Amino acid sequence: MRLGVNIDHVATVRQARRTFEPSPVFAALIAQQAGADQITLHLREDRRHIQDRDLELIKELVIVPVNLEMAPTVEMKEIALRVKPDRITLVPERREEITTEGGLDVAGMKDFLRDYVREFKENSIEVSLFIDPEIKQVEASADIGADAVELHTGTYANLWNDHRFHEAEKELKRLEEAGRLAKDLGLRVYAGHGLTYQNVKGVLRLKEIIEELNIGHSIIANSVLFGLERAVREMISIIKGG
Ligand code: PXP
Repeated sequence: MRLGVNIDHVATVRQARRTFEPSPVFAALIAQQAGADQITLHLREDRRHIQDRDLELIKELVIVPVNLEMAPTVEMKEIALRVKPDRITLVPERREEITTEGGLDVAGMKDFLRDYVREFKENSIEVSLFIDPEIKQVEASADIGADAVELHTGTYANLWNDHRFHEAEKELKRLEEAGRLAKDLGLRVYAGHGLTYQNVKGVLRLKEIIEELNIGHSIIANSVLFGLERAVREMISIIKGG
């Protein structure tokens, strides 16, 4: 399975102070250097973390594919067709949510989405749809001409984190069935949301179906801790050195 690293929350820390550090552009380059197969970022309508300039610089500097998560709006379409990421992943977006809460209701907006994705396909930008692992959403995704689906692993992850392993196992089955159908219908299958160093192991069992995982929060959260000791030592060295 490939790994797409979502660097949004590096920008979340920067935006907490509206300053220049830490830079998600720098983070994208470090993730690439460490072996990430893809850089994923979400330009939200409210610009709470990633900014337009981050996206432009990342597209310019990063060599591995760039996957832009975005809501299917007119504004985002204009930006994406200008910046030309390698892939767009369409996600639902609500201003009040903490993170993307559910999958896109592709079945409920088929005509709109069929029309929306056309220009991306004409521009050779891969179109992926972030959906819940439901048969009707998979069928609708194939029907509107998407190239891929990203299956929402949030429910599985939450159940696992709550130690409800039996239910988590059932959710894995749903992911497996939805993924298998998607593959049979000619879609590429990705997955992500809420995955951690612990709960990712269940999803790895679906490696014959799922080609790629997109993981953000847990990697960035751990990078803060892994890097803290060095960061403190460097500040002490500056203070003492002075
Ligand atoms: N995939 C999609 C479509 C997402 O919206 C997100 C969150 O931005 C992720 C993957 C990564 O989720 P997490 O930050 O929980 O790993």
